[in-house]
Amino acid sequence: MAVTTYRVTLANRENATFEVVARRPLLESLREQGVDLPYGCKYGGCITCAAKLTAGIVDQRRQVALNKRQINAGYVILCVARPMSDVTLEIGVDSHGALYRNPFLDPLEPHDLRQASPHQRLDDGP
Ligand code: FES
Repeated sequence: MAVTTYRVTLANRENATFEVVARRPLLESLREQGVDLPYGCKYGGCITCAAKLTAGIVDQRRQVALNKRQINAGYVILCVARPMSDVTLEIGVDSHGALYRNPFLDPLEPHDLRQASPHQRLDDGP
């Protein structure tokens, strides 16, 4: 049986391209081919391996680290994301700009703290 493969282009690595197998997580496929990518848990929970998808489609149903706003902004969790087409990614820490809030540089306002109540789902934001 033929193995389906797709092409991954790394936009912020001089558009380097890699051939990857459709059924395997992108983190695994890219690291095996020598791409140095940050990762932590490897089960979709810690956000360390996040990248930005700028073209193409991935299946990342197993991820639990991203909220809807981050997904809509194009973030993907490479340790569980499997390609469903050719994809273009921005990888590594350069891709993480909008994911984190530095609590020292950008402290939460009192109304933000109320929103962070444990009784509210993380993805209820605007
Ligand atoms: S390594 Fe933790 S979410 Fe991918």
